[in-house]
Amino acid sequence: MLILIKENAQQMSLEAAQQVASQIKLKPDSVIGFATGSTPLAMYKELIKMHKEDGLDFSKITSFNLDEYVELPPSHPESYHYFMWENLFKHININPSNVHIPMGMAGNIDAFCDWYEEKIKSYGGIDLQILGIGGNGHIAFNEPGSSLGSRTRIKTLGLKTRLDNSRFFSNLDEVPKYAITMGVGTIMEAKKLLLLANGINKADAIKATVEGPIMAKYPATIVQLHRYATIIIDNEAASKLEGEYIDK
Ligand code: GLP
Repeated sequence: MLILIKENAQQMSLEAAQQVASQIKLKPDSVIGFATGSTPLAMYKELIKMHKEDGLDFSKITSFNLDEYVELPPSHPESYHYFMWENLFKHININPSNVHIPMGMAGNIDAFCDWYEEKIKSYGGIDLQILGIGGNGHIAFNEPGSSLGSRTRIKTLGLKTRLDNSRFFSNLDEVPKYAITMGVGTIMEAKKLLLLANGINKADAIKATVEGPIMAKYPATIVQLHRYATIIIDNEAASKLEGEYIDK
């Protein structure tokens, strides 16, 4: 793992945006896995700036999002469809037909999940997968206890995750109880991983991810086995790490 510790969330976001931009410049038809949540927001702002000011070209990329709430329509302001269009896609020149986000309203969720897996494979897999991390060590919506070999499927969200995400809804009851999520195994097949975390409330999850034993209790710990995983964190998220990480 390459552990990059940055001064603050802004520096983390800048570094992450540069890594995504390098991937797209290196391979203009890259398949990029996008993440939602508050963590990647400033990175998306940087990417929009790079597109508008430096002409970073998204026209040939294909995107696959990690997850989506079940039973929230794409038009719902807290759906991940809405999030991605509002915070990134509508500001860049991505081809809408190259965008893939799990369909939380799918009538047959199992069939949809199989289709999503096949679709990723048909593009030759994901070149670069962006990840955040839940306070409980989840990646995408792979909650504690998720099989480390899991594939795209429906997951029940734990109370901690629903409480964490309730800040985006008017109350806890409105937070969906289920989500469609890429599996841990799906994520691990991406050629490169870019995991971001900032703030003191991610320090325990980062400690477990970087220095803890690999276990289904903290699905993010599996990234220790990935050949090309880069973890970009700020000083606060890094504050419980004991190892010396000197990569720049
Ligand atoms: C949600 C998403 C995850 C994200 C996590 C952390 O649960 N499914 O992909 O990493 O939230 O969110 P935040 O970045 O807002 O802390």
